[in-house]
Amino acid sequence: MTQIESEKNLSTIQNLPKHLGIIMDGNGRWAMLRGKRRIFGHETGVLKARELVETCVRLRIEALTLYAFSAENWSRPAKEVNGLMKLFEKTIEKYTGLLIDNRVRFKQVGKRTLLPKILQRKLEQMEAITSQNEGLKLTLAIGYGAQQDIIGAVKHIIDDINQGKIEKDAIDESLFSNYLSFNHLPKLDLVIRTSGETRLSNFMLWEAAYSEIHFTETLWPNFEEQEFIEILENYSKSERRYGSIKKEVELKKA
Ligand code: FPP
Repeated sequence: MTQIESEKNLSTIQNLPKHLGIIMDGNGRWAMLRGKRRIFGHETGVLKARELVETCVRLRIEALTLYAFSAENWSRPAKEVNGLMKLFEKTIEKYTGLLIDNRVRFKQVGKRTLLPKILQRKLEQMEAITSQNEGLKLTLAIGYGAQQDIIGAVKHIIDDINQGKIEKDAIDESLFSNYLSFNHLPKLDLVIRTSGETRLSNFMLWEAAYSEIHFTETLWPNFEEQEFIEILENYSKSERRYGSIKKEVELKKA
């Protein structure tokens, strides 16, 4: 597809997701298939993430959340974990200008205190520098796990009840959502997971309750804009009923 054709496709898609979550999986396998070290796959994965961010900016998608490092990824060999932490640090440094130029608002979710101090500082700086931006809301999940986020919310709610800030009976889905890490973002509309695995792996479990979920065999470093556009076109045709039934059916029944 040429750039012009691709632009045309992008502009004709109706009903884009407001909030898109991506599980960028398959970097390690991609590298091994080429006889390279796993970190080379992650480095190439960063370039893909950059392309995707630029496409989302062009499409004026409101929010993009990227799963870069799960709470469970701490159990990987120290060499890979250290390599990834260094890569996150370098990536933030390298793309600060790009995010500012594109008016991207950056935020990290996940247990920040477990990250290397230097990375913590870089994340704080990036959040501060971009906090007034009104473009794409880019969230990087590093050291994030949905179950841990939910447990954190439960503890916080119990504290607030004990301090008389809220009543137990006031707890509903909306209040609970406000205690989670994604309370600043619109509803999660679409999740894409690459590399052929068909599970959510502790990614946005609460938020994905009514999301469309798209699994693709493509390894993350091979994920191209053309496939992304096809997924968006499919999404735009999907009808989400949130557990309800079609309006026409409802009318006929009445
Ligand atoms: C999955 O590949 C990917 C990760 C563990 C996270 C790393 C992701 C990136 C480096 C891309 C973007 C990063 C940023 C900072 C935007 P895997 O190692 O699980 O692959 P495998 O399943 O083939 O082993």
